[in-house]
Amino acid sequence: MIMKRVFSGIQPTSDSFHLGNYLGALKQWVELQDGHDGFYCIVDLHALSGEIEPTLLRKRTLSSAAQLIALGISPETSTLFVQSQVPHHNQLGWLMECLAGFGEASRMTQFKDKSAKGGAESARVGLFTYPMLQAADILLYQANLVPVGEDQRQHIELTRDLAGRFNTRFGQTFTIPENFILKSAAKIQDLQDPFSKMSKSSGSSAGVLEIMDTPESNMKKIKSAATDAGREVKFDEKEKPGISNLLAIHSALSGQTITALESEFEGKGYGDFKIAVADVVVEYLRPIRAKALELLEDENHLVDLLHVGAAKARTVATETLEKAYKNLGTVA
Ligand code: TRP
Repeated sequence: MIMKRVFSGIQPTSDSFHLGNYLGALKQWVELQDGHDGFYCIVDLHALSGEIEPTLLRKRTLSSAAQLIALGISPETSTLFVQSQVPHHNQLGWLMECLAGFGEASRMTQFKDKSAKGGAESARVGLFTYPMLQAADILLYQANLVPVGEDQRQHIELTRDLAGRFNTRFGQTFTIPENFILKSAAKIQDLQDPFSKMSKSSGSSAGVLEIMDTPESNMKKIKSAATDAGREVKFDEKEKPGISNLLAIHSALSGQTITALESEFEGKGYGDFKIAVADVVVEYLRPIRAKALELLEDENHLVDLLHVGAAKARTVATETLEKAYKNLGTVA
């Protein structure tokens, strides 16, 4: 049986992934390795569409790789690599730019939101062409599944449209990826502002549980998480957003159901419950952080692992790119 291919990418834009990244997407990347051919890419070229800080980019790319391995992405079973080490992404990206309409690219909500923040005039062209590079990432590997969160739906739709358009005009070249928006994933909210998604861009880090943070710091963040009126530990996203979020976190990491947790904490207060959540989070993350730190200590070894991944990726990417060029009529 031929295994379906999975492709996904994450930007190396922070020193640490947070629990929302993990439970929202990365945990599914790890699970999908079973029975699928996984291609997982640290998309450093996409990160260049934001602020560029050379020392940080390097540090964060390596840290992202270490964390992905520590979280369970196997560099042997899967292909784990850094986007800029496979120049085919830029090459196919250009072909996608020549296929996409200015109008359809202008309708991408991520571009509209991000460019609106700093003013359209100063928005960079890379932010505009970002989705065409993303389409190239996916299509180069003939991916069947692209596990991403809801916020990436429009980019995946564009990828499907571009692949279909290319195939129709120039002959069968690309696999059209299935829609695969992660729904089963736990939705993790900010600890201080439980009506917003846990995210680094929210400004304050007090509500964000980071994988590379010390156990003490994460313990403290959970203990000072916003709670709600009342004193019952009950799942109710509208009336008790803070407690519901903590229940979701506990459940996702401990594997206990929300109902089981509600009965376990019946008659106990928020204080006891928070301590239990903090223990679960801290103990879950402790070995992951330790493993990531260990990998970061031997940078040469980590870079070697990434080179092996990039070599595997280039083999597949070369085949697809050659086919695309040939079908377009370029002279080889
Ligand atoms: N745009 C994605 C994000 O911000 C990252 C990404 C880049 C990606 N290329 C990809 C995700 C290809 C999936 C597939 O999350």
